[in-house]
Amino acid sequence: MKVLTDAMLLSGLLLAPSVSGSTGQTPIDHPGKPFSYVQPRNTSILTPYGHSPAVHPSPKTSGKGGWEHALAQAKEFVEKLTLEEKSWMATGQPGPCVGNVLPIPRLNFTGLCLQNGPQCIEEGTYSSVFISGVSAAASWDRKLLYDRGYALAEEHKAKGSHVILGPIAGPLGRSPYDGRTWEGFAADPYLTGVCMEETITAMQDAGVQANAKHFIANEQETQRNPTYAPDANATTYIQDSVSSNVDDRTLHEIYMWPFANAARARVASFMCSYNRLNGSHACQNSYALNHLLKGELGFQGYVMSDWGATHSGVASIESGMDMTMPGGFTLYGEMWTEGSYFGKNLTAAVENGTVSTDRLDDMIVRIMTPYFWLGQDKDYPSVDASVGPLNVDSPLYTWLYNWTFTGPTNRDVRGNHSEMIREHGAASTVLLKNERNALPLRKPRNIVVAGNDAGPITQGSAIHSNYEFGVLANSGSSGSCRFSYISTPLDAITARARKDGALVQTFLNNTQITEEGMTSLWNPELPDVCLVFLKAWSEENVDRRSLDLDWNANAVVAEVAKNCNNTIVVTHSTGVNVMPFADHPNVTAILAAHYPGEEAGNSLVDLLYGDVNPSAKLPYVIAYNESDYNAPLTTDVLTNGTYDWQSWFDEKLEVGYRYFDAHNLPVRYEFGFGLSYTTFDLASLTGKAVATANLSALPAQRPIQPGGNPALWEKVFTLTAVVTNTGTVDGHAIPQLYVAFPKSTPAGTPPSQLRGFDKVWVPAGETKTVTFDLMRRDVSYWDVVAQDWRIPTGQFTFHAGFSSRDFRANTTASFVR
Ligand code: BGC
Repeated sequence: MKVLTDAMLLSGLLLAPSVSGSTGQTPIDHPGKPFSYVQPRNTSILTPYGHSPAVHPSPKTSGKGGWEHALAQAKEFVEKLTLEEKSWMATGQPGPCVGNVLPIPRLNFTGLCLQNGPQCIEEGTYSSVFISGVSAAASWDRKLLYDRGYALAEEHKAKGSHVILGPIAGPLGRSPYDGRTWEGFAADPYLTGVCMEETITAMQDAGVQANAKHFIANEQETQRNPTYAPDANATTYIQDSVSSNVDDRTLHEIYMWPFANAARARVASFMCSYNRLNGSHACQNSYALNHLLKGELGFQGYVMSDWGATHSGVASIESGMDMTMPGGFTLYGEMWTEGSYFGKNLTAAVENGTVSTDRLDDMIVRIMTPYFWLGQDKDYPSVDASVGPLNVDSPLYTWLYNWTFTGPTNRDVRGNHSEMIREHGAASTVLLKNERNALPLRKPRNIVVAGNDAGPITQGSAIHSNYEFGVLANSGSSGSCRFSYISTPLDAITARARKDGALVQTFLNNTQITEEGMTSLWNPELPDVCLVFLKAWSEENVDRRSLDLDWNANAVVAEVAKNCNNTIVVTHSTGVNVMPFADHPNVTAILAAHYPGEEAGNSLVDLLYGDVNPSAKLPYVIAYNESDYNAPLTTDVLTNGTYDWQSWFDEKLEVGYRYFDAHNLPVRYEFGFGLSYTTFDLASLTGKAVATANLSALPAQRPIQPGGNPALWEKVFTLTAVVTNTGTVDGHAIPQLYVAFPKSTPAGTPPSQLRGFDKVWVPAGETKTVTFDLMRRDVSYWDVVAQDWRIPTGQFTFHAGFSSRDFRANTTASFVR
């Protein structure tokens, strides 16, 4: 690969000409510019920490991995395009969807509709609200993940979306304060990798392009975008976006890992993120896009920018970005391209030879190949007019006059998905505490329902911002939903309690509970059970300020538990909450329901009354105190230097449970933990080499496929274990496999890391055998010198059990002499 020098870049050799008052690129954040902070902090790694080397040119797609025929169709299509058409196809335009590639009627191309989001059709009418990403991860259930992704995509397709802007592997959850962890999956690359792969496969099986976002190291919302001076074009930075400074090994083993699964699933597109990576904007970071994504991971589709994450024209294009979104600044009465780094500027850059036709053609071929591969050129549903007014990125007046809708509007696309959502809600709610046999409920006659999260949403069913009253089953910003209906805990409990002739007393005002107390409010007969519903909101563009539940929730629990000796706490939350009430002797049970979508109430009642046996497990760690978590966000930059927002990922591999385990820190509820109404045991863990007992340390160098070197995905070792249901209730067990690498592995390797799991139905008293297949990548670490995945010499220990701290059986093996 040709490596461009800083001097070439800064001399303007690659700059697009200034057209229509818009510069072709902002060179200020380009890789290698010698800012004082760009100091390698660890000289033992080849890719300097905090610095991102330039890697050019951008690899061309070959459609390998099954897209060969579609690639030929895409090339044929591109041959018919004019230069302007190509430039526009790479440039988002105003339109009814959150991102739009305009139709080209002369070629019967009806355009591309890009739509949020990961839990629903953003604010869509007559569409379902599924369980959130964090809920799906908590299910540890591959089938659930697939079914959810498929159904979500069916609805998107029926409303005319060609591309779903999801799923999400960044943020991964480096910090529990990140505002978007609920949109993504687990604070673990392995589990998130499985979630990505299942979801993407399902969405694309349903005929819709998936989008793996946000690439990469997008681990905080604070200062995710630059602050701009209030000048006419708003292009002058006051301060640049935060730079995630990540070393090479951590990048591979933690943040890139699940994106490799996405590439392997042949995801159609990637979204590059807002943050900088090692000093260079993620959307013009040639090391990340050209080298890692299109090179090492063999990604064959297109890279689109996050909305407004493009900060240059030519530099972004040369660095591997293929499509800019939403495209530019809104200009009434004119095409969108005026204010864009792409659009007319891209046409000019090709005309004057700054960007090659070859590169532009590759951008469009990359965009069109998945379109043909998924058959989106044939009878694809038109865009439902009802989505138009919901699009905040290009308001109606910017496009309505030149857009023709066909087909019915306000289509009901829900099918029978609510049944599945109810099952999924129950399968993803984690039972954290259950003492004195509090659960399942046994026909309680006197029930108190307390807390502002229990009842109906009183401020409209489209979730835009935080609200005091009503159950929280989804959260804000581009992942936000509109509920056609919502089953609230209060409705569902009341309906169920009526069958038992029970009394249900409601106290839904947290302020009243904490200020006036409870005892005066209920009748003299003590309740059998008090169900307290609490919530925690979070959203895009801001990080959480606290890990406590919202609305004075801890005081609400204290007040209820003071008066009720069977208090059961249920949380609807974005993710991690510290739970100071967990030790209270009157708090007998705790359930973490995350954001379970439209069947919030029914799915919970299924668990509370024992119709469903809980099986979900935490996809993150619940610590005792907020101060126990490492890797604080960068939030308080008080200096005003342009590049002062630096986030040093100094914790390296110590993300989530890896940190707590490495330092032997006690936690309240560990990663992988979750109770059931039965008990399980696990024994007889044994391993067997798949082909040969002795493996080469480095993988055979096979031609790169989507997902990278196929040798990394080869099964090398299989373990089996026996799981027994030792209780009296049938249920799902989720046995987990963790690997402890040999002593020869370089320092910093976490004590144990998740490398397998299964979800298995075991009737009471019975036994089932479970299998964990390990691939080469699972037993390798990223060798920064060899720039490859290496299996270390020495003995591995495998632990199997029911959480990251509940190992029931161990075995050892060595692979490399
Ligand atoms: C978000 C993306 C989203 C896009 C379009 C951005 O602000 O980061 O996740 O898909 O907006 O709404």
